[in-house]
Amino acid sequence: MKLLLLGSGGREHALAWKIAQSPKIEKLYIAPGNAGTSNVGENVAIKADDFTAIREFVVKNNIDMVVVGPEDPLVKGIYDYFKKDEALKNIPVIGPSKAGAVLEGSKEFAKGFMQRHNIPTAGYKSITAANLEEGLAFLETLEAPYVLKADGLCAGKGVLILPTLEEAKKELKEMLSGMFGDASATVVIEEFLSGIECSVFVLTDGKNYKILPEAKDYKRIGEGDKGLNTGGMGTFSPFADKAWMEKVEERIIRPTVEGLAAEGIDYKGFIFFGLINVKGEPMVIEYNVRMGDPETESVMLRIKSDLVELLKGVATGNLNEKVLEIDPRSAVCVMLVSGGYPEHYDKGFAISGVEEIENSIVFHAGTALKDGQVVTSGGRVIAVSSYGANKEEALAQSFANAKKINFDKKYFRSDIGFDL
Ligand code: AMP
Ligand code: GLY
Repeated sequence: MKLLLLGSGGREHALAWKIAQSPKIEKLYIAPGNAGTSNVGENVAIKADDFTAIREFVVKNNIDMVVVGPEDPLVKGIYDYFKKDEALKNIPVIGPSKAGAVLEGSKEFAKGFMQRHNIPTAGYKSITAANLEEGLAFLETLEAPYVLKADGLCAGKGVLILPTLEEAKKELKEMLSGMFGDASATVVIEEFLSGIECSVFVLTDGKNYKILPEAKDYKRIGEGDKGLNTGGMGTFSPFADKAWMEKVEERIIRPTVEGLAAEGIDYKGFIFFGLINVKGEPMVIEYNVRMGDPETESVMLRIKSDLVELLKGVATGNLNEKVLEIDPRSAVCVMLVSGGYPEHYDKGFAISGVEEIENSIVFHAGTALKDGQVVTSGGRVIAVSSYGANKEEALAQSFANAKKINFDKKYFRSDIGFDL
């Protein structure tokens, strides 16, 4: 079959790497892809949310399936766009409908959904300029620190955690008066939850689901989990124990999939549960309607089965008949980033040493080809992923190889996995 994958990050390179291994694949295209995806498929110069150009490409090249990497095209309704089009309606899109993508696109919707289906999550109140007073009063009932979330998509920047009540009140007003544009016209104020976070992934056809390997993500830029939040600096899998995962399935995964179906929401794709372990009990911090990045760069290593077979099961609604076999080894990913990230950083530095890497899998995140040379083109540049009998062994491998790849102002956290 001919498959088109949308996106351009490390997540998409890892998905492309896995998809390309399937004997079912005759041709894999990635739009727009990066310098790494061109090693496992053919890059197409189309933006992941340019529906008109995607339509034209899909029709012209007889694409059999579209897999959506990032949330943006999903929140903008690519699934529905295909369903409504005479020429596209029979081509499966792996990713939820617009109504399902709201789980990530609106924090207010996600909180309401969890409340309707008794899914454990932090207490909250949804505030707009019209009920600001109620928001200020709610903040007074909470204990520090205070969690404020912009309702809409903010490229991962829409969550503020404030140490004092004064700052929380001030930031609430600023968010409501346009700190994140329309995305913060509604703000969700949440109870602060304390515990270790865990990323859990599910593939669903809307009725059946498969639980993919879970992962631990290191979000802060600095060693010892200090400094600004990033998209993720490294991950490892497995992370959770069986008893905890059983609670997650019982209390969170099943009610979510059943809740989507009960609300008549068409959902065929990945669900990413951002969870927190509060004294042994799993609670939901957030939903995403896609895979995590850089979680995918370790999770894909642990899927032994043919991913394309599973995706076909998603498309045809018989995921229950497909087998998901998981590699018992540990997999890790260490992210090499541009100095300055997640704030200002420069681009265009030549990357060297990738060819010499052995015993790791190198996924490109923010790279581009310039006159035949691979150069940096983003904050997160390269993910070095490895297997090991345990996470320590896998991490030692990734760290050793992370040192061999070079570009100006390269930085990585050499303490991934340190705390656990
Ligand atoms: P999000 O963008 O929803 O993933 O939130 C970003 C980060 O903020 C999460 O990964 C958590 O570390 C933190 N966070 C979000 N909500 C809460 C909460 N209710 N309690 C504690 N930390 C939170
Ligand atoms: N690594 C977290 C995310 O993809 O949102």
